[in-house]
Amino acid sequence: EPEIITEKDQMRTWSRSMRAQGKTIGFVPTMGYLHRGHISLIQEARKWTDLLVVSIYVNPGQFSPTEDLSTYPADFQGDIDKLTALPGGVDIVFHPQNLYDYRNNGSESGENDTSTGASCRNNNCSDAKEEGREKAVVSCVEERQSGHETWVRVERLERGLCGKSRPVFFRGVATVVTKLFNIVEPDVAVFGKKDYQQWRIIRRMVRELDFPINVIGSEIVRDDDGLAMSSRNVHLSTEEREKALSINRSLSRAKVAAQNGQVSCRELRNSVIEAIQEGGGKVDYAEIVDQENLEVVEQIKSPVVFCVAAWFGKVRLIDNMEIDLR
Ligand code: PAJ
Repeated sequence: EPEIITEKDQMRTWSRSMRAQGKTIGFVPTMGYLHRGHISLIQEARKWTDLLVVSIYVNPGQFSPTEDLSTYPADFQGDIDKLTALPGGVDIVFHPQNLYDYRNNGSESGENDTSTGASCRNNNCSDAKEEGREKAVVSCVEERQSGHETWVRVERLERGLCGKSRPVFFRGVATVVTKLFNIVEPDVAVFGKKDYQQWRIIRRMVRELDFPINVIGSEIVRDDDGLAMSSRNVHLSTEEREKALSINRSLSRAKVAAQNGQVSCRELRNSVIEAIQEGGGKVDYAEIVDQENLEVVEQIKSPVVFCVAAWFGKVRLIDNMEIDLR
């Protein structure tokens, strides 16, 4: 069984004592409700380091007040059971209550300082699933977002794709990942290419802020029917799930078309948008972008990634397909 650590200083103490013994530390940050996608990241991380830390923390800072923080699925014991069953295992599960609680670190967080979200602690945001808590959680997020004022932004990369419809999302991700990196102090961190823009943003942030961390991208894990695995898939009805298969199917067809010489992005985009709409989805975006800088391209010349976000009922799904014609 993995050891569960909930306090920041305990986490850092563990990492430093392991490092002092010459061990290297791998890290896989998650928001829990673990599925095979997360597990594949853990298996990838295992290849790189002696020890492995997995964090489970639903980060309020990356949800806007209208988003699904209060319904984000959770099953902590189920997650622990899955990690315990893993061959090779996981050494530590870091499961903080509230990463935006500064009572125990730094001289600026005096007893009287309520601006860092005192009421959040009392409302206990991590119990978001409990009835009647939704309102409290929403005000909690708002309070946190104004109470916490230091944000990491990767200014250009965060603007396109998911950044358009989720304006505070990536600053929330980059900030919490920075916090986690500073607490866990890993040598290697693994991110899924399922969240392609997130992965690129973290890589760039690590390079430009000189984090001594090697960031690895891990391939998308899909269910047998082709749907990219996501914690949010549990909210899909059987019918919606069937419809959602249009994303991967149309992306796969687009890739074949590109390989057969159809390199005009306008045509490729239209075919994917049509297929998803016919499938009953509402397209948020479907863009073909450069793999490195995520700039929109007109024609496929360099390695690109075809990124899609679409709504099926109340569920927003993202997926992507790398296309490299070299
Ligand atoms: P979460 O959605 O739980 O995902 C945790 C990690 O698992 C991310 O790196 C994500 O890309 C990866 N992942 C999810 N589904 C995957 C799939 N089907 N195949 C491969 N990898 C997959 O992403 C987050 O949490 C958060 O933003 C976080 C980075 C933890 C910061 O709060």
